[in-house]
Amino acid sequence: MKVQKQWSCFVFFLLHMTHTAWTQIFQVVGPSSAVLVFVGEDVTLPASLSPVISAQRFEVRWFRDDFDSPVLLYQNLQIRPEHQMQAYEGRTALFTEELLKGNVSLRLKDVRVSDGGLYKCFVDSGPWNEEVHITLNVEVLGDQPSISISYTEDQQTTLVCKADKWGTTPDVTWRDMNGVDLTSESSVTEERDNEGFLRVSSFIPIKQEFNVFSCLMRSKVPRPDWHSGLAIYGEYSEFMVSSSY
Ligand SMILES: *[C@@H]1O[C@H](CO)[C@@H](O)[C@H](O)[C@H]1NC(C)=O
Repeated sequence: MKVQKQWSCFVFFLLHMTHTAWTQIFQVVGPSSAVLVFVGEDVTLPASLSPVISAQRFEVRWFRDDFDSPVLLYQNLQIRPEHQMQAYEGRTALFTEELLKGNVSLRLKDVRVSDGGLYKCFVDSGPWNEEVHITLNVEVLGDQPSISISYTEDQQTTLVCKADKWGTTPDVTWRDMNGVDLTSESSVTEERDNEGFLRVSSFIPIKQEFNVFSCLMRSKVPRPDWHSGLAIYGEYSEFMVSSSY
C-alpha cells in the first residue's frame, strides 16, 4: 500500500513536469534599438528566448509584412524554403546549433537597400507563441563629392559640393587652405532621385579670390576605418597607409 502511494505520487510528479514543459512561457527578446548595416555587408538580427530554453522543436518564423511569405521559416526541425520571399532566396540562415540555447537570430547576407525596414520574429512552441519586432536600417555611402562654381543672381560667387546616391543625409564639412572650418557659412539641400537615393548639395559663398576649399562628406553612421596596408619586408622598413570614410 505504501509503495503504491509513492508510485502514484511519482507519476503525478512526472505528469506535472510534462505539463509545465509543454506550456512553458517564454518571451522573444531583441535589441532595444534598430540594427544598422551598410549595403553589401552581412548582418545578424539578434533574437533569443527568455528564459533560455531550446527552440529546436519550435517554429521560428522571420517575416516582414506577410506572415505566409516569410524571410525564413524553420519548422519541424528544418528550414523550409517553400514559401520564402524570393528576394531573400539564398541569403538567409539561422544559427542552427544555437537554437538549443534559445538563440533564434537571423543571419542575412549581402544586404540590399530594399532589405531595410521592420522584421518580425515569431516563435511558436505549440501551446505558446511570442514575437519580437526589429528594425533594420541599411546605410548607403554616396558617391565621392565634386566641387563646382556657380553664381547667384546678385553675382555672388558660390561653390557647390555635390554628391549623389546617399542613403541618409551625410555630414558635410568645408575647410579653406589653412584648415579653418567654414561649415557654418554653408547651407545644404537634398533631393531624392527616382531610386530613392539622396542627391546632396552644399553651397558656400566665396569672399576671397584666392583660396583653396575642400569639402568632405561623411556618413553620420560610424563605421570602422578602412585600412589599406603596404608592408615592405626589407630589413627595417615597414609602413602603413590608412584612410577612413
Ligand atoms: C546567436 O549566435 C550567434 C552565432 O554564434 C552569435 O553571433 C549571436 O551573438 C547570438 N545571439 C544571441 C542573441 O545570443
